[in-house]
Amino acid sequence: MRKMRRKGLASMAAQTVASTTNSVDLGPAAALSCRECGHRVPLGPVFACEECFGPLEIAYDFSAYGAEELRKRIEAGPANIWRYAPLLPVPADVAAKPNINPGWTQLVKADNLARELGVDTGKLFIKDDSGNPTHSFKDRVVAQALEAARAFGFTTLSCSSTGNLAGAVGAAAARAGFRSCVFIPHDLEQGKVVMAAVYGGELVGIEGNYDDVNRFCSELIGDPAGEGWGFVNVNLRPYYAEGSKTLAYEICEQLGWQLPDQLVVPIASGSQLTKIDKGLQELIKLGLVEDKPYKIFGAQAEGCSPVSVAFKAGHDVVRPQKPNTIAKSLAIGNPADGPYVLDIARRTGGAVEDVTDEQVVDAIKVLARTEGIFAETAGGVTVGVTRKLIENGLLDPTLTTVVLNTGDGLKTLDAVAGTGLTATIRPNLDSFREAGLA
Ligand SMILES: Cc1ncc(COP(=O)(O)O)c(C=O)c1O
Ligand SMILES: [Zn+2]
Repeated sequence: MRKMRRKGLASMAAQTVASTTNSVDLGPAAALSCRECGHRVPLGPVFACEECFGPLEIAYDFSAYGAEELRKRIEAGPANIWRYAPLLPVPADVAAKPNINPGWTQLVKADNLARELGVDTGKLFIKDDSGNPTHSFKDRVVAQALEAARAFGFTTLSCSSTGNLAGAVGAAAARAGFRSCVFIPHDLEQGKVVMAAVYGGELVGIEGNYDDVNRFCSELIGDPAGEGWGFVNVNLRPYYAEGSKTLAYEICEQLGWQLPDQLVVPIASGSQLTKIDKGLQELIKLGLVEDKPYKIFGAQAEGCSPVSVAFKAGHDVVRPQKPNTIAKSLAIGNPADGPYVLDIARRTGGAVEDVTDEQVVDAIKVLARTEGIFAETAGGVTVGVTRKLIENGLLDPTLTTVVLNTGDGLKTLDAVAGTGLTATIRPNLDSFREAGLA
């Protein structure tokens, strides 16, 4: 029943764009290929295989450059994700088009945090993606989806979102002159709602959780009401997802074209984690980094931990959960890429772990206090999980470890409510001394 519906959607989406698929220029992207059965179809706004209903992803032709030439091109490129345009599904002149141009965010050597966690200094890094235009890593994926939407002739950008994606879509649509209409659970954090609404697009709250919102969007795609709409994380998902590869590229380039030994990555749908792995594999195959083992660790909040539960139980399938956590950006109870995350964690020798909401809040404060980085709850999840993985011996603190902070704490202020003034004093020195501040 579920498979029939997916097949229906896949073919409907394909019909919508039959006339555009022959002429698209998305750089090295050669075709869409099924992750399950390898069936290939031309580039188009489709996301499910017509043979087996598996997810489609981009297959590339990277033969244009040798390793040395590619490295030089990248290093001479702009200080944003478009330096990696030869490795992305975007036209060669992408940097000249109106887009939000995210990326090239700081890789912070986190010696203070290392000391706090009781581990060696010099080996622990935070990849701080709060520095993107709308303050989350979602700008990377939306920037790709925008180029695909342009190539396929869409004029409306849409998405189902746990919050950050909504803001990123609103901003990208505003910059590029698209209409935007995005869908979120009605009860998200105020910071996320305002951030998504301020760009002037339509923002619709759905009475339900993210999984309900996503299901609704899938229905809308199959309905005439959604015709001509590019849903960045549904019918444009294969293009959108590739944006997360840029995190892998940047981390390696910022480490001096070397693979890290360990990465700690948050999981909502699991897309980001799988594409970070894809990006690392590409760099190895292209000869841009030396091949060596690396481990990928997934991080979830206990209140929405379907992948972590499956990992610990040794299962290959992920049993959906009803989310209940302050880490709302990660609150996807039925993660589309969950089984692939399990494969990657197991193949690389990593793990998937979860932390309580209390540990998330504590980790947000620890990261802020030690490194001056104010993370949203997703960053609290990765830092909290890093601490737990060190304590239980799964993460080796003597090796180079990169922990992702994927969003900005200003969007989830409620998580640290109660953090505030040290004292209130009258504007004179006596009062200052009385307060014990001298
Ligand atoms: C801040 C933040 N980090 C991480 C994620 C996880 O993304 P994915 O769905 O690719 O696993 C999300 C998803 O919404 C997010 O908003
Ligand atoms: Zn297939």
